[in-house]
Amino acid sequence: MIPFNTPPHTGNEDAHVLAAMKSSKISGDARYGLMCQEWFERNLGCPKTLLTPSCTQALEMAAILIDIQPDDEVIMPSYTFVSTANAFALRGAKIVFVDIRSDTLNLDETLIEAAITPRTKAIVPVHYAGVASDMVAINAISARHGLFVIEDAAQGMMATYQGKPLGSLGHMAAYSFHETKNFTSGGEGGLLILNDGRLIHRAEIIREKGTNRSQFFRGMVDKYTWVDLGSSYLPSEIQAAYLWGQLEMAESITANRLATWNAYKEAFDDLEAAGRLVLPTIPGDCQHNGHMFYMKCQDLVERTALLAHLKQNDILAVFHYVPLHTAPAGQKYGRFHGEDRYTTAESERLLRLPLWYGMEEDTRNRVIDAVRAFFK
Ligand SMILES: Cc1ncc(COP(=O)(O)O)c(C=O)c1O
Repeated sequence: MIPFNTPPHTGNEDAHVLAAMKSSKISGDARYGLMCQEWFERNLGCPKTLLTPSCTQALEMAAILIDIQPDDEVIMPSYTFVSTANAFALRGAKIVFVDIRSDTLNLDETLIEAAITPRTKAIVPVHYAGVASDMVAINAISARHGLFVIEDAAQGMMATYQGKPLGSLGHMAAYSFHETKNFTSGGEGGLLILNDGRLIHRAEIIREKGTNRSQFFRGMVDKYTWVDLGSSYLPSEIQAAYLWGQLEMAESITANRLATWNAYKEAFDDLEAAGRLVLPTIPGDCQHNGHMFYMKCQDLVERTALLAHLKQNDILAVFHYVPLHTAPAGQKYGRFHGEDRYTTAESERLLRLPLWYGMEEDTRNRVIDAVRAFFK
């Protein structure tokens, strides 16, 4: 069976993980942890990044940082992973879902303003498949209404918008290093990106269980104590060491994924031209990162048949997400503002093909042949 994903592993990680294991400090913020954070700060041009055990937890930190109170409202797409919403719902926020664009499947920036109320506190754009949301429009809305922008850039590392890295565009952003992402810190991991320097001090406290331990380690206070709400949001040094092995090869990992993505695109261009399927749209000011290759079938019936056909050919293709506003918790903690024109319809016809770092040409060609046979 051709798997849907194989976690990225370059070989570089092995020596770093061993070195971390043999070091005298394997908890968070040790040598590799700090090296990774500095790498991100340099590459993103931002004042502070903090490794977290997952993107989910980076988003939870963001919700605490902006002081979400019960019944505050947070605007986001319904076509996203549960963590985008959960992080804010956990703190009592009402989730306000807005429809997506049919081309990028990102939040439709033209529908956001109508969903804003006096209780709105933040907008959370999701850069689906590593393709940027329209951040010029979203940041302008945020400035007009005094709202926070938190980018869910779980899938966005190494992608850019108008030449700037995804994650560097809102007040804050979150990356994921889960094994299904382009880069992993040993299976699970994440990063909180702080672009607004005013958030750094409190973020460090929230991450250290609500204490000022980071200041203590830097010699800024002579003892540390409980000063605010917080939790344990540090990954171990072993996870950071694994990630470091991938950061060293960030460019080549991305180039390799893009090569597979481009080969898929080229192989199906004629089917799209013939109106048989729809391929991803990459707006001119976006450079994506080859995170995901998807195609859109005519409808749910055709997608179900294509999935079954691929399975018969020993290929595991998948789909996601069940729109959050249709899920039981989405109905309890959120509401959809306006018309669901694209969210449900697009989610029902989208299918993701296998794609991973180091995917062999033969394997890719088997997938291409099987898809083409279906549409013959
Ligand atoms: C858009 C989005 N947000 C958040 C997450 C959560 O990431 P993690 O598994 O690192 O918590 C994911 C993971 O799939 C995601 O795709």
